[in-house]
Amino acid sequence: MEKMGEKSSRIQDFHKMSFEEKLKIVKEFSNLSDEEVNLLKSMGSLDRKIAETMVENVVGVMPLPFSVAPNFRINGRDYLIPMVIEEASVVAAASNAARFMRDGNGIISIATDSIMIGQIYIYGVKNISFASQIIYENKDEILKLANETDKYLVNIGGGAKDVEVRAIDTRNYGKVLCVHLLVDVKDAMGANTVNTMAEKVAPFIEKLTEGRAILRILSNLADRRIVRTRAIVKKEMLGEEAVELIAMASEIAASDPYRAATHNKGIMNGVIAVALATGQDHRAIEAGAHSYAARTGRYTTLSFWEKDREGNLVGTLEMPLAVGIVGGSIKVHPITKIALKILNISTAKQLAEIMGAVGLAQNFAALRALTTEGIQKGHMRLHAKNIAVMAGASYEEAEKIAEIMVNEKNISFYRAKEILEDIRKKS
Ligand code: MEV
Repeated sequence: MEKMGEKSSRIQDFHKMSFEEKLKIVKEFSNLSDEEVNLLKSMGSLDRKIAETMVENVVGVMPLPFSVAPNFRINGRDYLIPMVIEEASVVAAASNAARFMRDGNGIISIATDSIMIGQIYIYGVKNISFASQIIYENKDEILKLANETDKYLVNIGGGAKDVEVRAIDTRNYGKVLCVHLLVDVKDAMGANTVNTMAEKVAPFIEKLTEGRAILRILSNLADRRIVRTRAIVKKEMLGEEAVELIAMASEIAASDPYRAATHNKGIMNGVIAVALATGQDHRAIEAGAHSYAARTGRYTTLSFWEKDREGNLVGTLEMPLAVGIVGGSIKVHPITKIALKILNISTAKQLAEIMGAVGLAQNFAALRALTTEGIQKGHMRLHAKNIAVMAGASYEEAEKIAEIMVNEKNISFYRAKEILEDIRKKS
């Protein structure tokens, strides 16, 4: 029941209304000012029609900074890395870390083929081991059916390649059969392709097993689509103590899930910033990363840092990266297209390799800062500027205020206000 005076969000046919009508409703519902409505309406670089082909009920766009991180050398090639992120210091940290890792061929990053897993869960199967056998015996037919759904993919060498069968114990429903369809999706992220295939083969699998399909969808634990990345930081550049401290911090994180979550978050700062810039499904990447980190039954780190025989610091990272350069919004969004042009790549594998490299560099930057001067110093300059702007300073005043607050090691809204008043009194 709605309370007296409370507005209802039950709006019939909202999705059928025009952009202007939708905005009008939001304006009235939430008491937006004309200025706020105009801000929402100013679509910037994303044409409204394009936005409306991407998602429903569009009433504006949400811009984020689009930055570029220089210094990256990956697999012997130099890159400028497009990054979209709201968090201060991430881009600066990545660029700085990449400088440490430029020696020789720079960061080495190798991605596997783009194998995604489609899952078909079947319940009500009487004899699980017999049903598994029947599925394996009909593997060619299942693959043929799946591949009928995407002739183009098959023509370029991709498509459904293999079938696996698993039995899953459930608490209340006994054993459920799970069929995995292994699909090479080439340069796409692959969700649509795999989901279509899973739906196509499910009736045939139901017939074979005399069970019923309950779920037909890809798995985001993309453990057949992995990137492996390695970087070396010379002890002469880093200092022997820092090498030791970073190796120790890495071991701590590997042993403690509480720290591993934060360690991995640092990796994801880099990975997701590139994902956003290049129009990826970043929720899928996050889901894949964290489930992979917990694949042994205990959550651990996606990367590891240790000292090599010469005393240099070596970092390795292994994680799933289901990313594409075709499909989804990638070739539709004008900024995504520019991001891919800046990267100048031609395969999804290359994109995964770059994202692994940025993740590892980001991780190194965080560990270096944490084990030496602490994370706040780097973070604080931009943070201080934000606080000064929040306190009412112009962008020029904010620069000055931030500098004073950082030097004083006292960064707060109230201090920013005090300094601002001081500056204005004096001018
Ligand atoms: C902050 O966004 C990321 C860090 O917490 C990562 C880490 O602790 O390793 C600094």
